[in-house]
Amino acid sequence: MADATILVADDDRAVRTVVSQALGRAGYDVRTTSNAATLWTWVSEGEGDLVITDVVMPDGDGLELLPRIKKTRPDLPVVVMSARNTIATAVKATQNGAYDYLPKPFDINELKAIVDMALSSPQRRRESGAAPTAGEEEALPIIGRSPAMQEIYRLVARLTDTDLTVLISGESGTGKELVARALHDYGQRKGGPFVAINMAAVPRDLIEAELFGHEKGAFTGAVQREIGRFAQAKGGTLFLDEIGDMPLEAQTRLLRVLQEGEFTTVGGRTPIRADVRIVAATNRNLRHMVRQGLFREDLFYRLNVVPIRMPPLRERTEDIPALVRHFLSRAEREGLAPKVLDQGALDQLKQYPWPGNVRELENLILRLTALHSEETITAEVIRADLAMAAATVPDEGRPGQDSLGAAVERHLARYFAAHEDGLPPEGLHERIVSEVERPLIAMCLSATHGNQIKAAKLLGLNRNTLRKKIRELNVSVKRGVR
Ligand SMILES: Nc1ncnc2c1ncn2[C@@H]1O[C@H](COP(=O)(O)OP(=O)(O)OP(=O)(O)O)[C@@H](O)[C@H]1O
Ligand SMILES: [Mg+2]
Repeated sequence: MADATILVADDDRAVRTVVSQALGRAGYDVRTTSNAATLWTWVSEGEGDLVITDVVMPDGDGLELLPRIKKTRPDLPVVVMSARNTIATAVKATQNGAYDYLPKPFDINELKAIVDMALSSPQRRRESGAAPTAGEEEALPIIGRSPAMQEIYRLVARLTDTDLTVLISGESGTGKELVARALHDYGQRKGGPFVAINMAAVPRDLIEAELFGHEKGAFTGAVQREIGRFAQAKGGTLFLDEIGDMPLEAQTRLLRVLQEGEFTTVGGRTPIRADVRIVAATNRNLRHMVRQGLFREDLFYRLNVVPIRMPPLRERTEDIPALVRHFLSRAEREGLAPKVLDQGALDQLKQYPWPGNVRELENLILRLTALHSEETITAEVIRADLAMAAATVPDEGRPGQDSLGAAVERHLARYFAAHEDGLPPEGLHERIVSEVERPLIAMCLSATHGNQIKAAKLLGLNRNTLRKKIRELNVSVKRGVR
């Protein structure tokens, strides 16, 4: 919009400078202030075409101002920025009528894009929902202020007044269920039930009965009529956990229900209207499963309306100290002796790759608070614990469905953790590569009954190279019996 005036309120001079320079260059008129009172004067006098406001200012709170602004000038878009970047701030900004919410530090180009969009698309954004009740932040703590988590909060905030289907993907223990609950608790169905069903935990041939209910006598063991999760979740959210484990026949039936908005119980005939919001989650690669014919493509697209990808913990190690504090204080509330981790211990945790993600960190903290007698936990203690846990606990997740890379990564994590200073002897590359090469070559030789020409072809290696490797790696060649 040509000649638009942008009102900027932020008590941080650096922010005001950056914003007014960037928006000024883009041709906007920019007026800045460091306090909420001036902003309110401008707005109430009818000035400005768009507001950018901070939350915490010396004389007031941008979020508190929002409802007043919206009441006086409902069409004035307000962009909220804040360093207080919790999920509650994101949700409250959106619910109080903010056009958008930007966690600090923000990318100035992104701010500019939001401003351009707000001024070109006439009035969008809801006037919706009641503001969240106080204490909500306490009730549902999703810890983490890394940029990756900020993205998740913004998505959740944007989804609070929709019933859109959400597919949450991510490694085991990354917080998929936590986000599913947040979508429900902050959403417009929060008054209804949140019902979860884990596809991996229900026997395959009972999944349909679990989901849709069954009539008396519908199958052996169906001694009485039973309602299913779809009916239980009426008016609320149905969380389909581990959706990648759903058998194909059940997928077909689920797809039909989602298309028609109606279901029938197993053995029943009367269609029942499905009044649920679907949130699904998986730690498997569904696109991959679609290509392999293990997951219905049409169902995938039905579910993947809004994809949310949970970042693995190793991609947001800056969140580790806050998570540690959170789990320590929870342990303390539960009556365990108070503990602290020293800097070395935190550094050690940041270096570990966390194949089991937040759940693994949570378990480690619980273990340490329960088993360790000193108050301060050091890097040594962490190393010893990680090495021990790796040696005694079987791998998390399902072996065989794991990628080779993940298996190697876990192996290495254990290997590093088992060494005093975290560093194994030199020459690691060759040792690891030959450890992978040996079974690879041995398997190919055995699959070709020891025929080196065929094995070389299978491997895509030159015959002489193969021979050399057999010698170097000391692979035994057994000629197949024909
Ligand atoms: N950001 C977070 N803040 C606080 N706690 C978290 C966070 N993420 C995960 N957790 C905790 O870690 C544990 C695992 O989280 P959750 O069950 O949501 O993971 P998931 O992705 O559903 O795992 P899985 O794939 O194994 O089902 C829970 O106890 C949860 O409370
Ligand atoms: Mg889960």
